[in-house]
Amino acid sequence: MVVLSQMRAGARDMTPIRVAVIGGDGIGPEVTEQARRVLETLSSAGLVSIGFTEFPHGADHYLETGETLSDESFARLRDDFDAILFGAVGDSRVPDGRHARDLLLGLRFRLDLFLNRRPVKLRAPALSPLRRADEVPIDFVIYRENTESLYGGIGRLEHEGTPDEVAISEGIASRRAVDRIVRLAFEDARAAGVRVTLSDKANAVPHMYGLWRRVFGEIAAEYADVPSEMRYVDALAMEMVRSPERFGIIVTGNLLGDILSDLGAELIGGPGLAPSANVNPGRHALYEPVHGSAPDLVGTGQANPMAAVLSAAMLLADHGAKEAAQAVEAAVDAALEEGRTTPDLGGNASTAEVGDRLCSGVLEAIG
Ligand code: NAD
Ligand code: IPM
Ligand code: MN
Repeated sequence: MVVLSQMRAGARDMTPIRVAVIGGDGIGPEVTEQARRVLETLSSAGLVSIGFTEFPHGADHYLETGETLSDESFARLRDDFDAILFGAVGDSRVPDGRHARDLLLGLRFRLDLFLNRRPVKLRAPALSPLRRADEVPIDFVIYRENTESLYGGIGRLEHEGTPDEVAISEGIASRRAVDRIVRLAFEDARAAGVRVTLSDKANAVPHMYGLWRRVFGEIAAEYADVPSEMRYVDALAMEMVRSPERFGIIVTGNLLGDILSDLGAELIGGPGLAPSANVNPGRHALYEPVHGSAPDLVGTGQANPMAAVLSAAMLLADHGAKEAAQAVEAAVDAALEEGRTTPDLGGNASTAEVGDRLCSGVLEAIG
């Protein structure tokens, strides 16, 4: 899909792409290492030029130093890099998840990475739990608004610790934020020739999602040539399972997009295959798998690195390195076809062995 939300179009000059790597917690560093290896392979082959800088941030760093994301690190990530390659955050030693919020949500908010692009692309019918997967293509993208909704941490506790305790969380939808992502969805849908679907819950949450509906309706009228529709999120979740082939771009708010993107991941083979890009087009970008730190898999060598590697492919595509991005996708497809996969996809290869196969696969793909 040709998308305007990608950062640079056209052929790449060989100016190095400056990539900051934050492995984070749990399996984050394990899968990110494989993504980095694949990018290094392409770099050594001369197809693209990439410089890497590792950042130590995550639970270990927080527990050792008390620092989640310092202003100094933030300023470097903002000013000195073209992209951030991110693993995952989340660690039971930090039960309130403070470092995870400061790092991941902090970067999304402070870099204003308002578009979270989460492709839902089925690479082979056998990967899907859907009965009809061999009859219908599944290839759509969730455009998740990444800066608002209930994620702002706005709220309070009243009568804390008493039987009358009440917790209040406030969700935000601003016209400016809704407008910019809905407009981008329509632009990209027009370029790709696909439908835009709004997912909301205006029937139960009228303030926040009522605004989404009004803005969506106004913009849809401006793009009368682009097919569009509005769906309540509960019905849309059913439709994603029943007829996934009908979707092109699903645009939605932060919390609903989070939930729908895990549902989408499961339609295409599970968390090990779902990549994402958090972008402010033309300015900043952070690439990461949709999945989390998977504490149950840490150190087992069973974490599937494909979602991280496909996130690196999104990084390449957004930075004009189309051929390199296609080589990564081809390498993933070849490994899937051979059954060279981790156990989540039925194989018996380790994280590093899949990484090996993806490195050889990109070299095969570029000939
Ligand atoms: P999770 O995505 O980490 O794991 C859910 C399930 O998917 C687990 O069974 C896990 O084993 C499996 N899984 C995940 N990634 C996999 C991979 N690459 N290969 C094979 N199987 C994989 O979600 P969770 O258990 O709800 O969260 C664990 C921690 O991660 C929490 O602290 C959560 O807040 C955090 N989290 C972080 C991010 C992120 O950094 N973007 C995303 C989601 C969750
Ligand atoms: C994701 C994650 C995060 C989110 C968590 C870790 C805050 O689930 O990236 O999908 O909800 O955005
Ligand atoms: Mn999530």
